[in-house]
Amino acid sequence: MAENQHHPFLHGLSKHRGAPPTVVVIFGASGDLTARKLIPAVYNLSYDNLLPADFFLIGFGRSEITDEAFRVVASDAVKQFSRRELQTDVWNRISAHTTYVSGGYDDKAAFDRLYQHISEIEKKLGREVQPLFYISTPPSVFQSIITNLGASGLASKYLGQAHQAKVIIEKPFGRDLDSARALNTTIRSHFEEQQVYRIDHYLGKETVQDLLVQRFANSIFEPLWNRNFIESVQITVAEEVGVEARAGYYEQSGCLRDMIQNHTMQLLALTAMEPPVSLDAEAVRDEKVKVLRAIQPLNVQVGGDVTRAQYTDGMIGGVPVKGYLQEPGVSPKSGTETYAAIRLSINNWRWQGVPFYLRSGKRFPRRVTEIAIQFRKPPGTLFAQNKHLDLAANTLTFQIQPDEGLSLILNGKIPGLETRIQPVKMNFRYATTFGSNTPEAYERLVLDAMIGDGTLFIRGDEAETSWKLYTPVLDFWKSQGQKGMDQYPAGSWGPTTAETLLSTNQHTWREP
Ligand code: BG6
Repeated sequence: MAENQHHPFLHGLSKHRGAPPTVVVIFGASGDLTARKLIPAVYNLSYDNLLPADFFLIGFGRSEITDEAFRVVASDAVKQFSRRELQTDVWNRISAHTTYVSGGYDDKAAFDRLYQHISEIEKKLGREVQPLFYISTPPSVFQSIITNLGASGLASKYLGQAHQAKVIIEKPFGRDLDSARALNTTIRSHFEEQQVYRIDHYLGKETVQDLLVQRFANSIFEPLWNRNFIESVQITVAEEVGVEARAGYYEQSGCLRDMIQNHTMQLLALTAMEPPVSLDAEAVRDEKVKVLRAIQPLNVQVGGDVTRAQYTDGMIGGVPVKGYLQEPGVSPKSGTETYAAIRLSINNWRWQGVPFYLRSGKRFPRRVTEIAIQFRKPPGTLFAQNKHLDLAANTLTFQIQPDEGLSLILNGKIPGLETRIQPVKMNFRYATTFGSNTPEAYERLVLDAMIGDGTLFIRGDEAETSWKLYTPVLDFWKSQGQKGMDQYPAGSWGPTTAETLLSTNQHTWREP
């Protein structure tokens, strides 16, 4: 095997078994996510010959359009958003099996028609086809869709067999603990947990999966991966973009719901969990839930474990940009945070006393997602006397995006007759080692759901555990409105109150 070829040993994360004949039904067929991510994902899977030979795509939505019109919408989506250019032969394979069903999400008759439509596909093919429902609508209609999938018999199709019906549910999965519980209750009255794939697209990112490989396929990390050697962990999910044209959604959401409760917590769970007994979906998810449960409740008061802020006007890449409260569609009295930072304590054997710092926000100076593991400093006895010898802490950084890679900061001697020490960085870059044509997260996730592998999806109890931690914060912030909301200029690394979260432990935020 050539050195750089992907090694297929991580069975649970790379099951290359083929998917059975499948029909993917997208609810919310004319939505933004469908065009930007889902259709291009299907196209690229087909390009890589990863779709089953008998693959069908059905768009389901309220607009009354023909099959042909939907095919045009879909091919336009590939042209505009796919990482590869549209090739006619690849597209034709999908297009010939693409149809559209129009109907309301609360209209049971429309779901009966969908059932009929799938039965006709099966009749023509002469085989049973696995139904995979992708709910990519606004959350207000999640419950209606799930209920109608149940009432029409679609949810229980082939139940108990490998090609049983499956459902992928887009975020947001609830907006607090109660709503997540209510959604889980509806789901569980129509689907078994093994049929349900709650999506968090961060889990489909190549480098997020690499985190497990780095931790568990390299023997040098495990002995160090604990409170004896690690001083603190910082997770940053920074975006350069502002709220864009999404104020309607974002005003109801805010950074904690949009980025921290889901994406950032997934990064934390994979970083901090115990080694699972196997790489099966349940074993991995059991460990993630365990570590989430070990997190101590947060002190929500100002000056406690959390801080929130809104961006004010500033400069991004030399261009002036508006503040959040001046963005179109945002209330001037908005109490919605565009930045959140949290200090967490995990009360278990491995992590007791090691602070985990999380931050995310819009309008940072640049887009970067990273996990930085900061190790304890060596004893200063040998080099401390010399002012040139202030040792840097060893830091292992997983750069999730962009410029994916891994780096380690070490202290090295500057060549010369004096002993002078300088931090040096060892770098592994994905693009240099493996080339840069990495699959998009959605390709991986759609394929995994098709083959019935839930490892990279969120289990119901996992979603609830994370909401349980953050619901008191959300409730407190809601009760405060704008009171206690800090500010940061667009193009900066966040508000000053975020510094105090760390300074009590003599730590500081990194500038990635
Ligand atoms: C989405 C959020 O889940 O993730 C967006 O709703 C955010 O607000 C996006 O911009 C970030 O995803 P990525 O893959 O670009 O880091």
